[in-house]
Amino acid sequence: MRSLIRDLLLSTATAESIHAAGWVRTRRDSKGFSFLELNDGSCMGNLQVIADAGIPGSEDLAKMSTGASVSVEGKLVASQGGGQAWEVQATSIRLLGEAPDDFPLQKKGHSPEFLRSIAHLRPRTNLYGAMFRVRSRMSHAVHRFFAERHFHYIHTPIITASDCEGAGEMFRVTTLDPVAGKAKSYAEDFFGKAAHLTVSGQLEGELFACALGNIYTFGPTFRAENSNTSRHAAEFWMIEPEMAFCDLQGDMDLAESMVKYLVKEALDGQDGDLSIFEKFVDKGLRERLEFVADNPFERVSYTEAVEILKKSGKSFEYPVEYGLNLQSEHERWLTEEHFKKPTTVFNYPKEIKPFYMRLNDDDKTVTAMDLLVPGIGEIVGGSQREERLDVLIENMERHGLSMEDYAWYVDTRKYGTVPHAGFGMGFERMLMFVTGMQNIRDVIPFARTPGHCEF
Ligand code: 4AD
Ligand code: MG
Repeated sequence: MRSLIRDLLLSTATAESIHAAGWVRTRRDSKGFSFLELNDGSCMGNLQVIADAGIPGSEDLAKMSTGASVSVEGKLVASQGGGQAWEVQATSIRLLGEAPDDFPLQKKGHSPEFLRSIAHLRPRTNLYGAMFRVRSRMSHAVHRFFAERHFHYIHTPIITASDCEGAGEMFRVTTLDPVAGKAKSYAEDFFGKAAHLTVSGQLEGELFACALGNIYTFGPTFRAENSNTSRHAAEFWMIEPEMAFCDLQGDMDLAESMVKYLVKEALDGQDGDLSIFEKFVDKGLRERLEFVADNPFERVSYTEAVEILKKSGKSFEYPVEYGLNLQSEHERWLTEEHFKKPTTVFNYPKEIKPFYMRLNDDDKTVTAMDLLVPGIGEIVGGSQREERLDVLIENMERHGLSMEDYAWYVDTRKYGTVPHAGFGMGFERMLMFVTGMQNIRDVIPFARTPGHCEF
């Protein structure tokens, strides 16, 4: 049985016979002995293996260079040298796969851009190994957060015929051959109608909230928006809770507790992986996260936010005017410079928001909310949904949506409608926030962005 290196490093006693395997990080030869640092991805730490020239397999020691894969059997003993508590005295060692001299990760200190070009190998570095272990553990934490609150996990479809956000930024799904020349109609296509990759699981999530009460989705979503920024990807993971019998206040409260829960998880639950981000990415990371975990967030209406921005005296690139969308520079100034803490902006003008948001009594604004965090900007977007049948139908007409296509959505308002609310959290943006990583391409295993679909 192979032991994980993380378990061996946490051992409380010596062991006569263990089996471990991993990739060589470094090898040093001295006085007939080889000292190998092995990493198996189970944790950041390496297992030091000492192999003497006589043991079975030692004839291949010279080939066990950085990047090679190795399997080892031996004794787990207290380490003689400093730096580690335990080490393995090998009784046999086996070369599984060589890594010739052109292995690109021989040296440390590669640029993020170079590492993106070898995204298939970058998880073998300390930083990206930690990144993707943190990503895994944060995913578990998301599920735990909802399980503790008795939310049901719903798998909403990836292929859909609806456009939740109404922004038209969708990838088409078709089996028709675009180069066949002859124009064909959707009737001939696989689904007999136009189909796309989902931009959000919300609409289907609402259907289930209107039956199971509190639900959430956690899955991939797709946006064909041609924005080449450090915060946008064409494929990203979104977490979307939806709550029946809930209003905007309850929605903002859940978003705030979820951000805090995940921040605390990042601080406490990462098996030491977070320290590497503090060391190499963001020196103030821990302090910043502790502040977020321990202090209430700010809440400000869109109208107030516009006033504050206008009075700021700052010259922004994009105009600040009631009725215009807040741009990332505005959002970041509000949360970074003005409030200096995570900030939820709510009640936006109805003209700039999708059809499903609940109209306020002022007839001008809808119950939208965006949670902004320093360094990133928008991390969560959500709203209370329009539950009144007549108002919803008016909204849909205003947005030019066909009643026929969305009859199933309207049904939830026709039969036993309830106030309900939800939001979407961008998982990659949350990961950027808790690790300090500056580019969304570095927190997702294989980034899809305009012009890039490698691997
Ligand atoms: O604000 P958005 O577009 O909201 C929705 O899709 C709603 N239907 C969610 C809901 O109410 N259930 O997206 C939600 C979040 C954003 O706040 C952002 O964090 C993230 O998803 N996001 C992206 N992340 C990475 N790349 C992109 N292109 C993103 N677009 C949105
Ligand atoms: Mg949004």
